[in-house]
Amino acid sequence: MSALEIEKAVVALRQGRLVAFPTETVYGLGCDAANPEALRRLYAAKGRPVDHPVIVHVVDVVQLPQWARDIPASAYALATKFWPGPLTLILKKQPQVTGLVTGGQDSVGVRVPAHPVAQALLAAFGGGIAAPSANKFGRISATRAEDVRRDLGDAVDVILDGELPEVGIESTIVDLTGNAPRVLRPGAITPAMIEAVLGVPVGMGGSGAPRASGTLASHYAPATPLMLMEGDLLLKLAVSLSRQGKKVAVLAHSVSQPLGSNYAWIAAPADVAGYAHDLYANLRTLDVAGCDIMLVESLPKVPEWAAVRDRLGRAATGASEQ
Ligand code: TXA
Ligand code: MG
Repeated sequence: MSALEIEKAVVALRQGRLVAFPTETVYGLGCDAANPEALRRLYAAKGRPVDHPVIVHVVDVVQLPQWARDIPASAYALATKFWPGPLTLILKKQPQVTGLVTGGQDSVGVRVPAHPVAQALLAAFGGGIAAPSANKFGRISATRAEDVRRDLGDAVDVILDGELPEVGIESTIVDLTGNAPRVLRPGAITPAMIEAVLGVPVGMGGSGAPRASGTLASHYAPATPLMLMEGDLLLKLAVSLSRQGKKVAVLAHSVSQPLGSNYAWIAAPADVAGYAHDLYANLRTLDVAGCDIMLVESLPKVPEWAAVRDRLGRAATGASEQ
C-alpha cells in the first residue's frame, strides 16, 4: 500500500465519498463519520435501512472520548487488552454524534482495527471512519478487494487492497451501556476472554439489546440456498441430489469428497481460526459456481466455534423463519 493510495483515499473521505478498506476482520465500506451527506451515500450504496447503526473506526483509544461519553472503566480495560483488534464497544454517544451513525439510538459502536492499511488510513485521515462491512445488506461479507468490487462496484470511489484479513469474521460486539456487559455479536474474542479481563459474567444478546443488523436471523446469506447438516447426512444427500442431476456445492471440514464425484467441493480447514479466515471467500466461491444448492457440514458444538456457527446459522436458508 503506497502513501499515494492512502492520500487518494483521504482526499475522497474529505470530499464525502466512499472508501473500501481491509481490516483484520472483513473489508469495511468507509466514509467520514462526521459527514451526514457521506453517511446517506453509504447507506444507499449498501442498500441498508437507515435505522441500522454503523461502527465508528478510530486510530486509537485516545479518540474514544470524541465519540463516547460516560465511558466506564471496563471499556478502558477491554481497549487496553484487545485494541487494536476485532472488538467493538457499544457506549453512550457524545451529543454531536449524528443519528445517521447510531441509527437514532443513544449509543455508539467504536472500534480500533489492527490491519496496517486500516491503521494507515485512519492515521492519515485523523477523524472517525464509519464503516459497515463492504457487502450488500444481508449478503456475505467481503474479505477480498475483488469481492467488494463485484458487490458494490461503481458506488465505491476508492478500494484499497492489502493483505487478507487475518480473522475473517466480523468483530465481537460488546455492549457496555447496561448494568452488565453483553455480547451482541460473537466473534474471535470470546465471552470467556472478556470475562477474564472484566472479572464479571458477560451476558449474550437477548431481548432489549439495541438493534444490530448482524443479529438479524437471516444475514450473511449467499444467493444459492444453503443447508447445514452433519457430515454423514451431507454425503448421502449430495450423492442423491447429484443422481437426480442437480449441481451441488459443498463446504466440508471433516468428510471428504466421494471418489469420482462431480461437485463444487471445498475442503475447509478443520481448525476454527483457519475455518473463519477462509469462510466468506469459500461461501462466495461456492455461490458463483452455478449450483442448485449448497450443503455445509455443521460445526462442532463447542464454545470456540460459536462465532462461526452463528454466521453459518444466519446464512442458512430459512433462518429468518426460526
Ligand atoms: O468487524 C467488523 O465489525 C466490521 C469491520 C469493517 O470493522 N464491521 C462490521 O460492520 O461488521 P457491520 O455494519 O456490518 O456490522 C456492525 C454491527 C451491526 O450489526 C450494527 O447494527 C451494530 O454493529 N452496531 C453498530 N452500532 C451499534 C449500536 N450503537 N448499538 C448496537 N449495535 C450497533
Ligand atoms: Mg455486515
